[in-house]
Amino acid sequence: MVGKTGSQGPVVVTHALGSYHVYVETGALARLPALIQELLPDRRVALIADSRVDSIYRSGEWGTGLLEAESLTFEPGEKSKTRESWAELTDQLTERGFGRDAALVALGGGVTGDLAGFVAATYMRGVPYVQVPTTLLAMLDASVGGKTGVDTPRGKNLVGAFHPPAAVVADPNTLKTLPEREYRGGMAEAVKHGMIADESYLAWIESNAEAIGRRDPGTLIHLVRRSVEIKAQVVSDDEREAGRRAILNAGHTIAHALEQSSGYMIPHGEAVALGLIAESRLAEALGIGAAGLSRRVAALLARLGLPVSLPGRIPRARLLDSMSRDKKNKRGDIHFALATRAGAMHRSDTWTTAVPFHRIEAALAAIEETTQD
Ligand SMILES: NC(=O)c1ccc[n+]([C@@H]2O[C@H](COP(=O)([O-])OP(=O)(O)OC[C@H]3O[C@@H](n4cnc5c(N)ncnc54)[C@H](O)[C@@H]3O)[C@@H](O)[C@H]2O)c1
Ligand SMILES: [Zn+2]
Repeated sequence: MVGKTGSQGPVVVTHALGSYHVYVETGALARLPALIQELLPDRRVALIADSRVDSIYRSGEWGTGLLEAESLTFEPGEKSKTRESWAELTDQLTERGFGRDAALVALGGGVTGDLAGFVAATYMRGVPYVQVPTTLLAMLDASVGGKTGVDTPRGKNLVGAFHPPAAVVADPNTLKTLPEREYRGGMAEAVKHGMIADESYLAWIESNAEAIGRRDPGTLIHLVRRSVEIKAQVVSDDEREAGRRAILNAGHTIAHALEQSSGYMIPHGEAVALGLIAESRLAEALGIGAAGLSRRVAALLARLGLPVSLPGRIPRARLLDSMSRDKKNKRGDIHFALATRAGAMHRSDTWTTAVPFHRIEAALAAIEETTQD
C-alpha cells in the first residue's frame, strides 16, 4: 500500500453528479493548457490567482500557456476569502463579458481554491473550473472534495457551495517557491489523514519526516498522492457530508476557533496542528481515544516544525464562544470528530460526538502549556 506511487495514473474522485481526476505529477503544470482544451473545449478561460502567485507565474520561468488566459487577481491571504472578493471577481467577469461559456482556473492555495471555486459555483448559475493547487495544503487537501466558499465576520466558510472541479492538477514542482512556513502548514493535514484513516501512512510520515522537511521530490509525490487517495476515498459518494466525510473535520473544530479568534493571525495549517493535539487529548479524556495518541501526534507535528502550543494567550472563553457558533453544531452542542486510535475514528450513530463545554476547556489545556516534551 505504501510504496512508489508516482508512476500511477490519476486519483479518481466520484460525487453525486459524476467524477473527476486528480493528477499528481511532477511537471503536470506544463500539460495544463492541453488538459483544459481536452476537458473544457471552446470555453473562454479566466485564470484566478492571488497577486503573489500571479506574479510568480508571470515571471517567465514557467513559460506555460497559462499566461495566455485572461487573469483576475486579488490580495493574498485568508482576509480575501470574503463575499466582497467574490463580488469583485464576479463583477470583473461580467465587465469583461464572460458568459455561460466561461471556465475558471483556480491557481494557488486553498484561499484561491475556495474563493475561485465559489465564483465558479455561482457565476451564471455555475461554470466549470479546474483546481491547480500550489501550496502543500491545497495539494493534499483543499483542492479535493468540491467544497467552495467564503468566510464571514461570524466565522469560517459560513457561505459556500458544493461545486466539484472538472479536474485537479497538482504539480509538486510548484512547491519550490513556497515559503517554509506555508509549506510546513500543509503537513498538518497529512498528519490528519494518517490519524483518521491509515495508521501505516502516519508511520510512513514519522519515518520520512526529515525527507519531507527538505522537500525531497520522490517523497513529496508519495505524500501528496497518498493524502489525495485518502481524501478522495472519504469524499467519494459522500459529497454532501451525509456521513463519514465528517471525519475530515478532525482537529478542525478547535482549528477554526483558533483561526477566527486570532483574527486569522494563526494560519490554517498551524491551527489544524494545534486542533489535532487538543482534540486527540479530548478523545482520551472522554475515554474514546486510546491513551498516547495525542502525545504521538504532538511529537510528530513538532518534528515537522509545527507549533504544539499556542503562541500567545487566547482567552478560553473566546475560543468556546467561537466554537459554539460553528456551523457544524446541532442544537447547541459542540460536535467533534474524534479518533479512537491512530487510523480509526469513533462512530456511534454518527461520526461526531457532542461534547460538553467543561470537557473542551480541559482539552484546551493541552495546547496552552508553554513547554511540551
Ligand atoms: N475546500 C476545502 O476542502 C478546504 C480544505 C482545507 C483547507 N481549506 C482552506 O484553505 C485555506 C488555506 O489554504 P492555504 O494555506 O493554501 O492558503 P493560501 O491560499 O492563502 O496560500 C498561502 C500563501 O502562499 C502563497 N503561495 C501559494 N502558492 C505559492 C507558491 N507556489 N509559491 C509561493 N507562494 C505561494 C499565497 O500567495 C499565500 O500568501 C483556508 O481558507 C482553508 O479554509 C479548504
Ligand atoms: Zn483543513
